[in-house]
Amino acid sequence: MSGQQSMALPATWQETAGGWFGVVMLMLAAVYYWIVTLLADPTLVIRDYDKCRHKAFGAMWLAKGKAMSEEMPGDTFKLLGTVKGTVLDCGPGSGEMTKRFNPEQINAIYGAEPALDMHTELTANAEKAGFGGGKYKALACGVEPESLIPALAREGLLTNERPETGVFDEIVCVRVLCGVPKQEETVEGLYRLLKPGGRLLISEHVVNPFPHGGSVVGRAMQIVLMFVGWKFLMAGCSLNRDTMGALERAAKPDGGWKSKNVRYVNGWATVPFIVGTLTKKG
Ligand SMILES: C[S@@+](CC[C@H](N)C(=O)[O-])C[C@H]1O[C@@H](n2cnc3c(N)ncnc32)[C@H](O)[C@@H]1O
Repeated sequence: MSGQQSMALPATWQETAGGWFGVVMLMLAAVYYWIVTLLADPTLVIRDYDKCRHKAFGAMWLAKGKAMSEEMPGDTFKLLGTVKGTVLDCGPGSGEMTKRFNPEQINAIYGAEPALDMHTELTANAEKAGFGGGKYKALACGVEPESLIPALAREGLLTNERPETGVFDEIVCVRVLCGVPKQEETVEGLYRLLKPGGRLLISEHVVNPFPHGGSVVGRAMQIVLMFVGWKFLMAGCSLNRDTMGALERAAKPDGGWKSKNVRYVNGWATVPFIVGTLTKKG
């Protein structure tokens, strides 16, 4: 992977402290929205745990997502502006990224978002961004194959000779692969859904790459935060996923990706990102 420079230690202690302050505040907000969700419907967590965690996270994201989307790591916004064709938008949340797409280059876009409480905001943001008239379709599903494939079938998208393959020109994953269940299988499923020559765009936080670059402090903070309940509070989000490894393995049956242009951004941090594109062999 390129981008070794961005893996250097931060220049200032303020950057490190600022990063820690951000994650601690986010965890406190998550605790608050879990409590609000439990108070609103105390038995939901037992009746339907998945629905409950999506509800708690959805409430937090509706309150904080906009502010958390004004800046994004590296070239994320620039890359989103290049997305084209028939597109799968994985876990779009409230649609804060929709205004970064260019609707003129996109024929149809499907947003697979399991947190139903965010769909109204998602559709409104997509319309505001120029995807009116049903051009942006919010799907009530996750991106793991057992949820996504039936949803795509209902949309009439699995019409190939080999269903479940080659459906999308481009697939967008922004801050979502950290939280999908069974990441390995999910990424394999997404890879299959890409058309030959298709492109996967990622902007994902990952495990701190220490000791192969990164920083011991960032890695240690990830371990501590996971230990004190990050995953539970953040609806299944993990700080320690080797997402690049999963993407590499998904393309292995085809002998790898045709091309990869992915960089670490803030490789030193507690929440380091990988940002870029991977193109499937044609
Ligand atoms: C941190 S938010 C990011 C939202 C959006 N991608 C963005 O960056 O503005 C993570 C999103 O992933 C969604 N999500 C969680 N589990 C998912 C799954 N299994 N499949 C698809 N999306 C999922 C959450 O509901 C949430 O909307």
